Amino acid sequence: MPIENTRNFSIIAHIDHGKTTLSDRLLEFTKTITVREQQDQLLDAMDLERERGITIKAHPVCMNYKGRDGKDYKLNLLDTPGHVDFSYEVSRSLAACEGALLLIDASQGVEAQTVANLNLALQQNLHVIPVINKVDLPSADIEKCKRQLEDILQLPADEAVPASAKMGIGIEDILEAIVAFCPPPKDPGDGYLRASVFDSIFDPYRGVVSYVRVISGTIIRGQKVRLMASGNDSEIKDLGTFRPKMVPCEKLEAGDVGYIIANVKTTADVKIGDTLTESRKPAPEPLPGFKEIHPLVFSGIYPVSTDDFEALKLAVGKLQINDAAFTFMAESSAALGFGFRCGFLGLLHMEIVQERLRREFNMDVISTYPSVIYDVRKTDGTELQVDNPTFLPPANEIEEIREPIVKVDIMIPNENIGDVMQMVMDKRGVVNNTETLDDRRVLLHTVLPLNEILVDFNDKLKSITRGYGSMDYEHAGTQPAELVKMDILIASEPVDAFSCIVHRSKAESRGRQLCAKLKEVIPQQLFVVAIQAAIGGKIIARESISALRKDVTAKCYGGDISRKRKLLEKQKEGKKRMKSIGRVNIPQEAFIEVLKNN
Ligand code: GTP
Repeated sequence: MPIENTRNFSIIAHIDHGKTTLSDRLLEFTKTITVREQQDQLLDAMDLERERGITIKAHPVCMNYKGRDGKDYKLNLLDTPGHVDFSYEVSRSLAACEGALLLIDASQGVEAQTVANLNLALQQNLHVIPVINKVDLPSADIEKCKRQLEDILQLPADEAVPASAKMGIGIEDILEAIVAFCPPPKDPGDGYLRASVFDSIFDPYRGVVSYVRVISGTIIRGQKVRLMASGNDSEIKDLGTFRPKMVPCEKLEAGDVGYIIANVKTTADVKIGDTLTESRKPAPEPLPGFKEIHPLVFSGIYPVSTDDFEALKLAVGKLQINDAAFTFMAESSAALGFGFRCGFLGLLHMEIVQERLRREFNMDVISTYPSVIYDVRKTDGTELQVDNPTFLPPANEIEEIREPIVKVDIMIPNENIGDVMQMVMDKRGVVNNTETLDDRRVLLHTVLPLNEILVDFNDKLKSITRGYGSMDYEHAGTQPAELVKMDILIASEPVDAFSCIVHRSKAESRGRQLCAKLKEVIPQQLFVVAIQAAIGGKIIARESISALRKDVTAKCYGGDISRKRKLLEKQKEGKKRMKSIGRVNIPQEAFIEVLKNN
């Protein structure tokens, strides 16, 4: 098919505005899948995604479409995730496209991530086609959305396509708009092979599968190819397109999106963002790389059983191959043994990695309290970066600590301004200015310490605004802060997994909170257990757990032996998942609970 008939596009939107549902409709309409084949939501193939209802990885898919003009078109759709933690996936997918559908929920209108994703698309010079989705909802307000398109996004509202992904309304109009407005790919036509690797997955049977967008030249089976950044040569064993399953084909040409399987040995050989070229006739220069992404949140991940360290090492290595933003480094902890210091884009990303380790690799892991990277200048003039509270030098050796800050744009209904401003201040942030968007909503431009928005900021925002508030953030450098290391001692033993770096003004309340939480989740032992929070040598909060008699079957009066056995078995199961810290057994759930709720 001539390159003029190819269209590569993405769908971008705020979370839950209907990308996945629309993608499914497009696949159905183009008969890429039949309705019967369709699972609940096909593009969200990972179980975890379906459960959480969010798209995590970007999946490409190739569709054939006969336009109203009678011509045959090849449409490559790259699905993108909507959550703030995953905006790097969005920009990677966008780099492989010429156009984007900007989806807006007709009842919600433009939201913070609509703006952020539109900006990413415009930076890549994509043609943006607005689609007003969910017009079937009684609360849909198409006119309001059109006004917002013009006023907030400066997009021509008359180009907007009204649609309902759920009811299948406007689907053909969307396909026609893609054919008409999304420009076809351009081939530099100099004969060199250039393909960008925008994702990779590890398939247990086939090895490393790389997703590529061919910019120029042709890829065929048996060809010797080179990854330009790593310099590794390999041979193409298989190639094909996603329909949406992997279907082998003869060749991938300029403009195409598809997959390749080469005989690369290890997962580490494939760097996402690398340029694939021909070994025999390499392109003179690689394609402009993707924006380097750096993890912003760090936490230690440890196997519950120390015997599982090697298995965990293998698992994190495999996870990293299709998650360029996830980093890891071996570390050890007095309480938890050997494990890894892992870097994530945000808290959701962290939860997802932990969940994937559990489900896909069957790993039982414990993770430590998340931390950001602090720049520390010592009194002797040396500087270091600390992402693990254990390595924070003693207070008397520290001249200054700087913490990362983020610019956070928060879009909220007018009536919540007071409460949201209060929350921003409670989180040590400042509101720089307030922008009125329309008669109902405002946009707050704020700056906050990254550390403060890590855990529950988004949830709190949603609950204050009854779900109407939305936010987007970007990195904004560092600023000095009065930070201290807080230790948690259980039965006088410091538990390094619970140590954290906190702002001095918040240390006491945080210490009390942590101790109270630990009291709730650590089971009673045969002796009294003291839980203390300390800064330096000074105890700032304390709780204690009273002692317990061990007989778990005591409350099983009567002679029901099977019930007794069940209880004992349950206790045995529980023991396996315990971690002993000094004399105290702490269940794995305690670590997770404490981490989650603080
Ligand atoms: P993320 O991947 O998490 O960003 O979400 P998404 O944008 O892919 O949204 P998804 O397709 O999962 O849809 C979110 C919710 O909106 C689901 O409950 C859909 O059933 C619903 N939905 C999607 N399109 C429509 C529509 O046209 N009308 C109505 N009424 N509901 C819709």
